[in-house]
Amino acid sequence: MRRKLAAGNWKMNGTKANIAVIRDLAQAHPSPMVDVLICPPATLVAACAGHAPVAIGGQDCHAAAKGAHTGDISAPMLADAGATHVILGHSERRVDHGETDELVAAKAEAAMAARLVPVVCCGESLDEREEGMTLDVIGAQLAGSIPNGADGSLIVAYEPIWAIGTGKVPTLEQIAEVHDFMRRVLVDRFGAAGDEMRLLYGGSVKSGNAAEIFAVGNVDGALVGGASLQVADFSPIITALEAS
Ligand code: PGA
Repeated sequence: MRRKLAAGNWKMNGTKANIAVIRDLAQAHPSPMVDVLICPPATLVAACAGHAPVAIGGQDCHAAAKGAHTGDISAPMLADAGATHVILGHSERRVDHGETDELVAAKAEAAMAARLVPVVCCGESLDEREEGMTLDVIGAQLAGSIPNGADGSLIVAYEPIWAIGTGKVPTLEQIAEVHDFMRRVLVDRFGAAGDEMRLLYGGSVKSGNAAEIFAVGNVDGALVGGASLQVADFSPIITALEAS
């Protein structure tokens, strides 16, 4: 059985005042029936760590462990700060920073070498969906962004770009189609490990739509942006996942 995961991505939001959100989440869910992960900005990783059962992750890492890369953060540095996970290949990084599948795979290898669990993101643009390219795009991203050495702990997040921060959500049939496809692709490539990998849906998940999304087969949880910033918004999503 795959343990479900409620993951939050704070993106470039949050200052020291927001550390209280992690503390309050841990207090509100002292022994959750699902895993809970928050990925705050890098400046807050160390301060947010240590509030079990809430795990802490980074939002990106460099493919190298150290060196002359001004402004970058390595996987061993995230681990040293208390992170256990790292989001990689989010569409905002693919678009804003030109990240390719190859680079994302190299970062995932670096993460695994530092014993961080990679949360590898994929997702189609609106044009790609309207042209009927969705499964081709997702298949290529999975093939290129997940390294061969991945084990069953690796997490994949399906985040249609047009659903991120827009309030637009794919139909449950569209989510099911992509998640079933991803499962088949991962099992074909990784065998039993591909069946262990957790598949998150992300893109405008809110307390109001979480339960129906979590009822879709092969949806093992969510990667939540805006609705992970406040306990009042994220806590009901955790509860909905526990009930699913
Ligand atoms: P959103 O972001 O929940 O604000 O749509 C999701 C994400 O980008 O991870």
